[in-house]
Amino acid sequence: MTYQQEYKNSITDPAGYWEKQARRIQWFREPTTILSKDNNGVDRWYADGELNTAYLALDYHVLQGRGEQLALIYDSPVTGTKQTWTYNELTAAVARFAGALSCLGVEKGDRVVIYMPMVPEAAIAMLACARLGAIHSVVFGGFAANELAVRIDDAQPRVIVSASCGIEVSRIISYKPILDNAINIATHKPSACVILQREMQPCDLIAGRDIEWTNLVAKAEPADCTPVLATDPLYILYTSGTTGKPKGVVRDNGGHAVAMKYSMDVVYDMKPGDVFWAASDVGWVVGHSYIVYAPLLNGCTTVFYEGKPVRTPDAGAFWRVCEEYGVKGLFAAPTAFRAIRKEDPECLLAKPHDLSKLKTIFMAGERLDPPTYEWVMEHIGRPIVDHWWQTETGWAIAGNHMGLEPVTVKAGSVTRPSPGFNVKILDSRGNPVANNEQGSIAIKLPLPPGCLPTVWGSHDRFVSGYLRTFEGYYVTGDGGYLDDDQYLFVLGRTDDIINVAGHRLSTGEMEEVVAGHSAVAECAVIGRHSDLKGEEPLGLILLKDGIEIDEEQLQKELVQRVRDRIGAVACFNQAVVVQRLPKTRSGKILRKILRNIANNEDYVAPSTIDDPACLEEIEQTLTEKGVRKE
Ligand code: COA
Ligand code: AMP
Repeated sequence: MTYQQEYKNSITDPAGYWEKQARRIQWFREPTTILSKDNNGVDRWYADGELNTAYLALDYHVLQGRGEQLALIYDSPVTGTKQTWTYNELTAAVARFAGALSCLGVEKGDRVVIYMPMVPEAAIAMLACARLGAIHSVVFGGFAANELAVRIDDAQPRVIVSASCGIEVSRIISYKPILDNAINIATHKPSACVILQREMQPCDLIAGRDIEWTNLVAKAEPADCTPVLATDPLYILYTSGTTGKPKGVVRDNGGHAVAMKYSMDVVYDMKPGDVFWAASDVGWVVGHSYIVYAPLLNGCTTVFYEGKPVRTPDAGAFWRVCEEYGVKGLFAAPTAFRAIRKEDPECLLAKPHDLSKLKTIFMAGERLDPPTYEWVMEHIGRPIVDHWWQTETGWAIAGNHMGLEPVTVKAGSVTRPSPGFNVKILDSRGNPVANNEQGSIAIKLPLPPGCLPTVWGSHDRFVSGYLRTFEGYYVTGDGGYLDDDQYLFVLGRTDDIINVAGHRLSTGEMEEVVAGHSAVAECAVIGRHSDLKGEEPLGLILLKDGIEIDEEQLQKELVQRVRDRIGAVACFNQAVVVQRLPKTRSGKILRKILRNIANNEDYVAPSTIDDPACLEEIEQTLTEKGVRKE
């Protein structure tokens, strides 16, 4: 069937289309209700179906005779470790850790926070939760204690699973003090913490609360799979919103399993037995969907990589891993390839490697800039799929569907909407605009399976953040346009979210932290263009009256403050003092114009601006301070 037919069917008859796709997975109880409304009036998929996601990812394949096939390959250049798990071995490890969690009282519906580096135990813990019907919430290791504490208070976990340390290139990052600090800050206290002791830096345990992973597992019996409803939550994944408080994106079990299995086939063209490598981190949605769940649900082998694209040990790491494990599909953020290109401009380190098994390179997480696309194309010569999605959707809203009908790409486009995503471009009143006209990218409801049905503990936030702006639509927060061939062009966020090295961060949250400094009267944090990381935050600071402070010292303090409160991953490294911030007459800071000025882009001052002279002043200040290049 062609893309056009599939897409049309999915939009004209969503229930019929997704009923057919639901047959791709083995339900404990087949759903008879395909699409219905929940108590909040939100569209839900497969409401009366019963399944278990860990069963589908593991036990099912063992029963199908894939027990001896590799399920997971752990490759860790930072520790010099390589390990493999067959489906038999991974199933046994997950069942046992599920038994261990259940000894700690974890039951269906309980939350478990996982704060771990890229060790395979993170995936084992996630799948163990799924096995019990418990809800995991993985927190990215680069976040500071305060961020972890916010998530602990929101998710209220019974148990936290963590590790003694992580490794950033050659630097050991102590996780345990961050965990202890977070639990101290949080109001909610878990009843137990399971700690994986890593030999490069074991940690002290707190008696009565902390239990060592191996000791706990040694005593545990394997646990069976608990059947859950399709609409029961599988996980909560916090993502940056426009305010300081992250949003807990909820993922259900049934729609997610169907969408993951479907996307492996349709988007990635991966068959059972193929090797897939998403070079991301389990703390991000890419890690949830395409390191852990989708490859395993599809009977593939997933590569679990603890390292960077460069410096571990060099810019040939990606090509070495692709050759060594026969990777067929590689998925990474464009920033990873920019980092490789910077260190190895001629891509010489790829030359010694046999990449004959590598069929496609997938990129997402941020805009794929044409020079990066061209460089990878020139040196690796494989189809490159730029696909666009978000934590909220869990899989590609748009892309070039390699398992369906790949088409010629157009530079700068994420190609065409995926079946199920009725993508519309709307003007500020919510009316669809003509082809080639820019607007807000929205998805006409219902969203397809796999997308969020709510925000954890705050359904109002779901409604106000995504559904209220335009009746009958989900707003993505990205702007863009569709061309005459229905190719989608994503032009960037229309809100205060920035993408730093493929990591989604809230400038609003950074502003809250910066504004908390005693010398700061007001501030704006904006995304400044970075050749390597796509965007980097820049703080523009207005000092309190009468404050005299050395600017370099202030910058140091602000940088440290953001590292301490949000984490190193925020990459907040630059703050400049300005005399005024441009505002509308009603007092709203004109952040978009500030961004244009810092990036030396054209802009038009709005008629509502309070004092237009302020813009020239800012331009001059940023130029003088070397932030803005003419
Ligand atoms: N735990 C603790 N600290 C972490 C961390 C983690 N899991 N991940 C990142 N950090 C720290 C880094 O050590 C660095 O700290 P520093 O400022 O003290 O040096 C800081 O956070 C910023 O990290 P990063 O943005 O990753 O910068 P980098 O210079 O270390 O690496 C790249 C640059 C481009 C190689 C790297 O960002 C990369 O591989 N990006 C790909 C991103 C990706 O896969 N995104 C997922 C979406 S698909
Ligand atoms: P996250 O939720 O962390 O996956 O971030 C989602 C956001 O990243 C999107 O809303 C976009 O702004 C951006 N993004 C993701 N993929 C792409 C892409 N292929 N092209 C442009 N922007 C992207």
